[in-house]
Amino acid sequence: MDKKLVIANWKMNLPNKGIVHFLKSVIPETTNLQYVQPGICPPYLFIPQLFELLDNSSILLGAQNLHYEDNGAFTGEISAQLLKTYCSLVIIGHSERRRLFHETDEEISKKIQIATHFNLTPILCVGENITERKNNHSSKIVTSQLITGLSKINNSNNLIIAYEPLWAIGSGNAATPTDIELMIKVIRQVITKKFGEDTQNTVRIIYGGSVSEDNINKIITLPDMDGVLVGNASLDPLKYNNIVKNIETIIT
Ligand code: PGA
Repeated sequence: MDKKLVIANWKMNLPNKGIVHFLKSVIPETTNLQYVQPGICPPYLFIPQLFELLDNSSILLGAQNLHYEDNGAFTGEISAQLLKTYCSLVIIGHSERRRLFHETDEEISKKIQIATHFNLTPILCVGENITERKNNHSSKIVTSQLITGLSKINNSNNLIIAYEPLWAIGSGNAATPTDIELMIKVIRQVITKKFGEDTQNTVRIIYGGSVSEDNINKIITLPDMDGVLVGNASLDPLKYNNIVKNIETIIT
């Protein structure tokens, strides 16, 4: 069985009391985990520092975005080639990038393509907004984000899909287990249709949106649930550790 992913998305923040304090608390709690694979996606600037600090730890390092070109005149951007030196993961198509920076599914598909080309594991984020949900369009929206987002790759090796409904992110109210379960099924169906029957072992599906130490047990025990992407709660080392500990305790 693959370990459950607990990926911290620090966004444009650093943990309370700083990186060193966070790692002093989290590294000892994340050695010899049986059921959890931890990971951290910090702001770009701190990636090299974390690369050094995480040496000999079990924590994976990831980026929060990349550009879809190899190199060139793209002021302010960063390429897969540059990230590859330090990272094994990269978040792509987070709803904040789609909504605030107008990233399109087409651009996201190019980012997925370049990430996989450089052996970075993409975490493709998909999810509907509140209006789409109220209009019963959640499945349709997520399906179309997946179809276009994955249109430029033929191989599903090492792919992570994060279901992150916009209305749950940062709201303190996670989606209900029933909602999450339904969308996992939709995602698995689309993935299976595209890549074939064997995706259970190659494509991991995770959930993000107000994950906390209080709701993790209900989320992580859902069928076909491979982990979580954690924003706010990942800035507090105690909360992050509790999420990890709860999973270690409940999974057998
Ligand atoms: P949240 O963020 O846990 O603060 O809701 C999750 C995310 O945006 O990835």
